[in-house]
This record gives sequence, structure tokens and C-alpha cells, in this order.
Amino acid sequence: MTIPTLDPMMTAAWEALDARADAFDPDLRAWFEADPDRASKWTKTAADLRVDLSKNLIDEGVLADLLALAQQCGVGELRDRMFAGEHINTTEDRAVLHTALRRPDTDELIVDGQDAIADVHEVLAKVYDFADRVRSGEWVGITGKAVKTIVNVGIGGSDLGPVMAYEALKPFVREGLECRFISNIDPTDAGETTKDLDPETTLVIVASKTFTTLETITNAKVVRDWFLSSLREKGLAQDEAGEKEAIARHFVAVSTALDKVAEFGIDPNNAFGFWSWVGGRYSVDSAVGTSLAIAIGPDGFEEFLAGFNAIDEHFLNAAPEQNVPLLMGLLNVWYSNFLGADTHAVLPYSQYLHRFPAYLQQLTMESNGKSVRRDGTPVTYETGEVFWGEPGTNGQHAFYQLIHQGTRMVPADFIAFANPAWPLKDGEADMHELFLSNFFAQTKALAFGKTSEEVRAEGTPEAIIPARVFTGNRPTTSIMAASLTPRVLGELIALYEHITFVQGAVWGIDSFDQWGVELGKVLAKQILPAITGDTDALAAQDSSTRGLIEFYRANRA
Ligand code: F6P
Repeated sequence: MTIPTLDPMMTAAWEALDARADAFDPDLRAWFEADPDRASKWTKTAADLRVDLSKNLIDEGVLADLLALAQQCGVGELRDRMFAGEHINTTEDRAVLHTALRRPDTDELIVDGQDAIADVHEVLAKVYDFADRVRSGEWVGITGKAVKTIVNVGIGGSDLGPVMAYEALKPFVREGLECRFISNIDPTDAGETTKDLDPETTLVIVASKTFTTLETITNAKVVRDWFLSSLREKGLAQDEAGEKEAIARHFVAVSTALDKVAEFGIDPNNAFGFWSWVGGRYSVDSAVGTSLAIAIGPDGFEEFLAGFNAIDEHFLNAAPEQNVPLLMGLLNVWYSNFLGADTHAVLPYSQYLHRFPAYLQQLTMESNGKSVRRDGTPVTYETGEVFWGEPGTNGQHAFYQLIHQGTRMVPADFIAFANPAWPLKDGEADMHELFLSNFFAQTKALAFGKTSEEVRAEGTPEAIIPARVFTGNRPTTSIMAASLTPRVLGELIALYEHITFVQGAVWGIDSFDQWGVELGKVLAKQILPAITGDTDALAAQDSSTRGLIEFYRANRA
């Protein structure tokens, strides 16, 4: 099956947007003054999310052209083909079906001759049963003790989703349970994470789609060694049979490669599968979320999945003018391809979302950091902006200066919740209100700025007026929900999944492969002998790499 690939620059809509951008002179102050309904016109609802797009550099004309661009690039058709399970990941010849992970069990979706939804619910039932047994204390370690700490060993999509969601949903985590995460092959990660752990109450989840990833397999072996030697020190697991039993009680796996799980020594009965049609960065709502399912429980995980599904339904069914992922994806195209933005900030006003920007970096940049279209032809326009961010208000005291007064345009998404998990007060002052006053103030300052007249009127000395002027017209989107719940988190993730999809669909690229990570992996394997003393391998390196390795060898104690 072929997926038609179009050069978006050849469309009439791209040409129209180009012409618009040339003459574009946005003025948010004037636009808001001229139209008292601007906020309500540009505020959209997607499930529980209220999304205010009004402080973006967009008017009806730009919107019409962006929607025409989506139509001319076949975004809707590609979306339908994705949801139907067609192989839209063309370079890997795979279906892209993370949306099947959250569909109700009453649905059916035959993919490559198999009902994907039935498969999903079979695994979910297994994950839930396991989660219940761990949470209730029925699942015990070799000394009969219940699990207290779950260590997820994984990297990329097998780490960022679980850790981000665990951090985000801390208020929903069962008391007495803790999740920890080991991802980096830097020995510091495994060392620091295990140093105070009791092996008798630890459950290790080795999560790897391929079960070949160097970091994860190395960390899994290192953690297994730590685990077995700690037990031996306690006089436990003294022989092979004892070790086998200990591994069976304390190690489980999540993977699409169940044969490799068995080779590693984990009982296949303690393995949770998923499928090639779930991309790593789209997998937190598969069995990859097992640590989360244990932490927040099956009911919480079901809510999480329902949130994803609500946004999937919105993306499928909402009219284009109301379709939030479509509009936000198109706005990103507008900023990066027509107004020169290179980066996109995500600024959650929620400390619980402190790993959300890192999660989005993999989702967006591994998906859309591509230079060729699906048919192999090179793109002649920018793709994949750099996503970055930190929670507010911390970022305000660090990098917001550049967003307010720098020379670059940085479109930014602000995210906040009406209700705090911690209703703390400073005397009479509600801390959450102090916090949110910053959220509201920042997008206002970015949009409307401060003129030289206003600065002068404050009595500012003439010489420093220019330094204190804010130009305004710095675009932001404000996303709000009542509270950060499992459901709302699912909605937020699905929103960004589909924003990423829309951008990739316009750009004609394969958003679901990641060939760009391969070369570094191959070279690392080739370089290892040069580091460990193979002089021929060292001599074969380029002069810079050789110099770096020589410095390492000279300084390694
Ligand atoms: O190297 C990139 C990558 O393949 C990501 O796409 C993926 O999420 C990560 O590595 C981990 O892969 P795995 O789950 O197969 O260990």
C-alpha cells in the first residue's frame, strides 16, 4: 500500500500562507481591542481541556489558509488510515496504532489478520491482575514480604512515559509504594537508585520494546547482579534454584520480544507483551505503563486510558475549526515554516508535570526530526521544532527573559489546573492563587507587552526606557483543566501525540520511525575496543575522537 506523499510547498495553501507571512503585522493589543469576542472565539474545548488560542498570532485569514493546507496535504485521510491500522509507518512497514491501546473492549479492529483491541484487553487484564496482586500484598518476594519499591529499568519510550506519568500522578499513588527509574547507562543511575534498596521488597520491571537496547539490557544485568549478591549477603538465594526462584518473584518484563525475555532469564509468565504497531514514544498506555498501573491501580489506569480515548474521539470527530490537536499542530507549522520559530516551549504551572517537557521532547523530536519525506525526497522546509521547557514559576527566574525580550520568537504552551493537590496557605494567602497569578500574568505580558509610553509614565529615566520596553505579540496557548487527574494526564498526552501527527502529516514525513538514533549506537559499539586498549581500533579513529579517547585513557584512575 502506498501513502501519497506531497511536497506541501507545492500546494496553493502554502503559497497563500507565504504571501500572508510576508505582509503579516500582528498586533494582539489592537486585535483584542477591536474584537471583544476574540478570547471566546479562539477558546476551544477538547474533553476536559479548555484551550485558549486567542493569544496566538492568528486571524481568520491565516486560519482559513492553515485549514486549507491540512486539507490539501491530506491530514484527515492520513489520520483515518492511522486509526484504521494501515501501515502508515512506511519505512518500517508497520501500522501505527497507539490509539488502539485505549479503545473500549466492545470495539474490534482487525490488523494484519488479528483483532488488535482484543489483544490489548487480554494484556491489560494480565497487567491489572498483576497490579492488584502487588498492591494487595498477595504477590510477595522470596522471604514472603510485600513489594514496597518498583524499579523500572528502561530508556526512551520505555522510561520517559512511565517516569513522567508517575511523577505527575503522585497524589494518586498508593501509600507505601514507590517507583524508581533507571535509564542511563551512566553507572551512576543504577548505583544511586539501588544503593538504599532492600532486595526483599523490590520488584524490578525490565521494560524494552526490542529487549536489545544496550542501556536497558546492561542496567537489567547490573541490577540483577546487585539483587542476587544482596540476597546472598543475607544468606538467601544460595544456589542456582534459589536464584531462579528469586528472579521469578522479583523480576518481570515488558516487551514485544518475549523470546528474548526468556533468554534473559525472566519467566515468560511474568512478561507483559505489546506489539510492533506501538512506537516506543507512544507506549506509556501499553504494558510499558505497568509500573504506573501498580502505583495508581487498575482503576486509575483505566481513567488514564479513558482520557486518551476522549481526545482520540475529539481528534476524529470535532469539526476542523474546533479540532484542538489539528489547530495546535497547524499553528506550529505556521510558526516554524512561515514566521521563523525554531523552538517551542512547554511551560506547565504544575510541579507534578516537571518531566512533561522531557517526555514531549522524545515524542515530538524523535517523531518529526526528519529531513526526507515518506518517498525519500528531501524536504526543502523546516521540520520538527526543538521542544523544551520547565515548570513555572521556576522558568520565570531562569529563561523567560529571552521569551519576553529576546530576538527569537518562542511560541509557548502554558498549562495549569484550577485545583492544587496541596491546598497550602501562606498565612491568609492561598498559595495556589499566588502561583496561578503568575500563570495568568505571563501570557498577558507576552501578548500585550509594555510600550515606551507606559514605561515613561512610571517615571523611568529616559536612558533605560528601551531596556524596559516589552514588545508583546509573543504567542502563547493556555491549556487549563480543573485538576491534574489520571484522565486529564491521558488527555494531555494524547493531545500532543496528535499535534505531532498533524505536523508530520503536513510535512509529508514518516513521524513513526527513528533511523536517526542508529548511527550513534553502531559507532559506540565500534569505539568500545579503542577505549579498552585495542591500539588498532584507536588508530582507526579520526584525530578528534582519538584525542578524546587518549585523554580518557590517560586520566582514568
Ligand atoms: O534509540 C531510540 C529508541 O529506539 C526509542 O525509540 C525507544 O523508545 C528507545 O530507544 C528504547 O527502546 P526499547 O524500548 O526497545 O528498549
